[in-house]
Amino acid sequence: MTATLKDFKLLPYLLYLAKVEKGGKPVSTSSLAREFGFSQQTASRLLRELESAGLVRREVTPRGQFVGITKKAEEIFFSISSELDSILKKQVSRLSFRGKLVSGLGEGAYYMSRPLYVRQFKHLLGYEPFPGTLNIKLPHSELQKKVRLSAIEHAFISGFKSRGRSFGFIRCYPCSINRKVAGHVLVPERTHHPEDVLEIASKYNLKKRLSLKEGETVLVEISA
Ligand SMILES: Cc1cc2nc3c(=O)[nH]c(=O)nc-3n(C[C@H](O)[C@H](O)[C@H](O)COP(=O)(O)O)c2cc1C
Repeated sequence: MTATLKDFKLLPYLLYLAKVEKGGKPVSTSSLAREFGFSQQTASRLLRELESAGLVRREVTPRGQFVGITKKAEEIFFSISSELDSILKKQVSRLSFRGKLVSGLGEGAYYMSRPLYVRQFKHLLGYEPFPGTLNIKLPHSELQKKVRLSAIEHAFISGFKSRGRSFGFIRCYPCSINRKVAGHVLVPERTHHPEDVLEIASKYNLKKRLSLKEGETVLVEISA
């Protein structure tokens, strides 16, 4: 998810509401109005707008109105944070993910053995990859970190055309798997995988080499 300028405009309000929520306090329209110097009417309209945009949820209790930040708003925080990192040229160099091993349909093997990909793997990453990828399904809490990948240095494998078919480019992030084996997290331009799956390549058959079983938790540490 990439932050839009509209998201940046909402940031002060979302930050304020996130802080109040963290403090376990209710939000009154008068305190919101005071904080930002507008009328109570404007404050209550703002809350309604944030709610209908799916960015906050409201709950009215005898202790007052409690406003919570939604996952959608958290994604905006992560996205803005990663945009700021890249604007400030702050290189993030480490990122780790924990997820569960899931098996795919075996399509990874087809792509990983296309000669034009293999040649670039050897040239840019320094090894001939095992024809197959390891799929790691991330829980929601880890998924949000994925937007930070773009700020990490990576190798770029170009797309190509072969026999009338287009093959997409791939961003490759150096990583270790379970602190034992080196490989790369692949982010293909085109993929059938949902957002929450990390696809990993290595010189080795990772499943065998690490004796991994379906559903097992795997640690992937990226360090550029
Ligand atoms: C090196 C590489 C290149 C890929 N290129 C494409 C592509 O051009 N088009 C496409 O639809 N999917 C591409 N994919 C992604 C696959 O569709 C898919 O996400 C994945 O490899 C599925 O494998 P699995 O079923 O074994 O889990 C590529 C994957 C890899 C590893």
